[in-house]
Amino acid sequence: MTNVIVTARRGLRGEVKVPGDKSISHRAIILSSIAEGITGIHGIQSGEDVRRTAAAFQTMGVSITREGRNDLRVHGVGLKGLREPNEVLDLGNSGTSMRLLVGLLSGQRFFSVLTGDRYLCNRPMGRVSRPLRSMGATIMGREDGNLPPLAVRGGELHSISHRPEKASAQVKSCLLLAGLYAEGGVTIEEPVPTRDHTERMLGLFGLPLEISGTSIHLEGGLQLRGGEVWIPGDISGAAFVLAAALLVPDSEITVRDVGVNPTRTGFLDAMAAMGGRLKVDNLRERSGEPIADISAYCGPLKGIELRGSVIPGIIDELPILSVLASVAEGQTVIADAGELRVKETDRIRAMVEGLRKMGVDVEEKPDGLIIQGNPSINGARCSSYGDHRIAMSFIIAGLRARGETIVEDTDCVNTSFPGFMRLLESL
Ligand code: S3P
Repeated sequence: MTNVIVTARRGLRGEVKVPGDKSISHRAIILSSIAEGITGIHGIQSGEDVRRTAAAFQTMGVSITREGRNDLRVHGVGLKGLREPNEVLDLGNSGTSMRLLVGLLSGQRFFSVLTGDRYLCNRPMGRVSRPLRSMGATIMGREDGNLPPLAVRGGELHSISHRPEKASAQVKSCLLLAGLYAEGGVTIEEPVPTRDHTERMLGLFGLPLEISGTSIHLEGGLQLRGGEVWIPGDISGAAFVLAAALLVPDSEITVRDVGVNPTRTGFLDAMAAMGGRLKVDNLRERSGEPIADISAYCGPLKGIELRGSVIPGIIDELPILSVLASVAEGQTVIADAGELRVKETDRIRAMVEGLRKMGVDVEEKPDGLIIQGNPSINGARCSSYGDHRIAMSFIIAGLRARGETIVEDTDCVNTSFPGFMRLLESL
């Protein structure tokens, strides 16, 4: 278990790139594996979570070769070409891998078992196993299919129209992947719009979707066509680097080639509302996703309220936003974010605990937190609870805090941001 020791800094400066978007990387591997023909994926994220998705498809007979450090070549096997895995698919810490794969595997005429680490094996899967069962899949697991390991007996699926209780791109994507195999396809009615990378990438692979408002329909049985896919930089990774610039006195950092899909830019909107000095330049599109260069400069911040339909667009950035709110002027309220409790760890609990140790006045709510900002925070010993975004949030907080901050158990940073410490040191 690695601990990181951080002390206050001044004047972080530089131009950097962050690893490829994790959500888009998973989807690129999944869709290229079941497409016809060869796909070149450029800028893939090489973190542990994405590697687990790639390894699962290799176990199911897909040839995936590394061409350069961040480039993969995937030899698609077609919609029905996957092979029954003769071992348990171990998805490590990756919730996205598990939820998307259980959907895809429900459409396969074979048996498979999915598991993960002790964190993933305690995350709720009922939100996917329930609708998949109503499509005809057999799914077994602890707590009646709610907790991994999950065993899937896939096969003939029928169409459903589903309205998930909670806004979740993972549930939506799981059902779209199952829908590829369902006669009549699937219709999903989202309670609130969530990241739409699956929809965009299905389009890139030649599959038309019918989208009207928050309703999405996909026809079943259509073939995907491989091609070239470019993955943008991960805005959820960039958020930590931009936060460092906003927090550390005398800093100015530019992150190039970041994905700015409007379903993911809640952090940029929140920063603007907090008075953060950000600049978005060079907006363009690649492989169906908008990208841009984003610069951030240190300056005063003020508290805000975040609730309701904006939450899905900033869900992964709420831990680092809580750090920024801790040094902002005034109060920040985060509500309607109960989903944070079932991420890689209970992120509300973990942030409340660590921020309190740093001397921040923070109140824990069932669905969020209320933070009273104060420009000075103190170094402390904070645990990541094995969660990459908690670890990175406290490392960034330590760059601003008085005294020494020790962040415990930081190996998890590799799940989404390999090279994070090296990148910070380069600034
Ligand atoms: C993701 C969706 C979100 C997000 C997760 C990645 C995805 O989860 O928190 O990090 O790639 O679809 P939910 O769909 O559970 O909200």
